[in-house]
Amino acid sequence: MSIERNNVLPAQKELERQQEFIDSIRKQNDAYAKETGRQKKFYSLAMGCQMNAHDSEKLEGMLTEMGYVATQEESEADMIIYNTCCVRENAELKVYGKLGWLKHYKKEHPDAIIALCGCMMQQDSVLQTLRQKYRHVDVVFGTFNLYKLPELLQTRLESGRTVYDIWQEHRETVEDLPQIRHFPYKASVNIMFGCNNFCSYCIVPYVRGRERSRQPQDILQEVKKLSADGVKEIMLLGQNVNSYGKTLEEPISFAKLLRMVHEVEGIERIRFMTSHPKDLSDELIETMAELPKVCNNLHLPVQSGSSRILQEMNRHYSKEDYLLLVEKVRKAIPDITLSTDIMVGFPGEEEEDFLETLDVVKKADYSTAFTFIYSKRTGTPAAVMENQVPEEVVKERFSRLLETLDDGIHRLHEKLLGQTVIVFAEECSKQDSHILTGRTEHNTLVHFAADQTDIGQFVPVKLTENKTYYMIGERVTGE
Ligand code: 5AD
Ligand code: SF4
Repeated sequence: MSIERNNVLPAQKELERQQEFIDSIRKQNDAYAKETGRQKKFYSLAMGCQMNAHDSEKLEGMLTEMGYVATQEESEADMIIYNTCCVRENAELKVYGKLGWLKHYKKEHPDAIIALCGCMMQQDSVLQTLRQKYRHVDVVFGTFNLYKLPELLQTRLESGRTVYDIWQEHRETVEDLPQIRHFPYKASVNIMFGCNNFCSYCIVPYVRGRERSRQPQDILQEVKKLSADGVKEIMLLGQNVNSYGKTLEEPISFAKLLRMVHEVEGIERIRFMTSHPKDLSDELIETMAELPKVCNNLHLPVQSGSSRILQEMNRHYSKEDYLLLVEKVRKAIPDITLSTDIMVGFPGEEEEDFLETLDVVKKADYSTAFTFIYSKRTGTPAAVMENQVPEEVVKERFSRLLETLDDGIHRLHEKLLGQTVIVFAEECSKQDSHILTGRTEHNTLVHFAADQTDIGQFVPVKLTENKTYYMIGERVTGE
């Protein structure tokens, strides 16, 4: 028997097994609804990155199949699930804060179930704290066994005891979990899991494990299914999409995968993230330039502009390498927009290093940036580095960084004023249902007045006002 079949069979069996738990909980919840006239509700919170947001769509899909209905009001939920993040300390503090509040909630609602999962749960120190101080939590699992939620919940309901199930490594990828999509017309698809890069500040490789790519045919099947459901825009997700497929039994490049996804009828826009600058291949740049459905927008995290700091970060490129790469990409795709991740306050960062970061910001001309203050993560090499930068210095640099970024983004958007662009209308504004929001191919966020029938459509919008992080426009109607 081939290794491939060995992998597939248990995963399918596992899916069937979980389905049995789903059916059993559904029966209990249906009986409860019949008896009380009230359906049980779940509150789901995804913290951190797009991976987590996407994982939560699967958790929510499973909970819905178990007969729970979603609520935005935590204080009326029977089932509360936090998909946690540990990339920065703030995200962890937020979870502990919420757990404090939940202690009271649980006193008033002893039958409510509290579940915690995701990256934070992969750390022993967190589990210890939970066991000692937060014993009102009911179900705890990690990043490798998300699909086991139904079984763990059933065990909790039967035993009345807290259930901990944390795996230290990946075992099998269970495909085809039910999922609730947050948007009807756009969707994310995981193409790989984990990360092998070990940037010296980052906890992700320790909590999400080694890099694993999904089979291209599984990805394609999922994209085709989404397209049949009406999805027009796909975001391909991975910590480092540029190394997609390298470790598959039949290796394939990310560029080839893009070509395959490009063939899927009904999909009109393709985006992807994240690209590590060290692995961005010429093949990928050429493929992006060639394929019309692949959006001319690239997320290329720089982290720092100082070659010395980049080396300490274990990023495997210098400031010059990065800027040359930007030049190469712009030459191949002149209208491309770039976004990035930038960190301030990495250990040992001096004023001159920070000035190099500002210099890259000015030269790279980013249209968006995710900015972070370095957060010490126990277990990473950077946590034990000397010269941690004092907080007030970091804060002052951070605000200068934002100023420089804002200037650049504002200037970039100023050039778009008066242009008519095609916007993929995604949803109506939360404040005003007559205002729709959407994005251009270049990922510019646009707000414009239009009818809700435009949602899910590609519509022409004339850009009239520049609000730095987004633009206001007028829907152009056909003459
Ligand atoms: N502190 C601050 N930011 C971090 N990131 C990753 N680890 C840390 C950390 N310890 C940022 C990086 C990465 C993004 C997802 O999160 O910029 O690209
Ligand atoms: Fe973290 Fe670096 Fe991997 Fe990104 S590439 S997840 S920053 S280790």
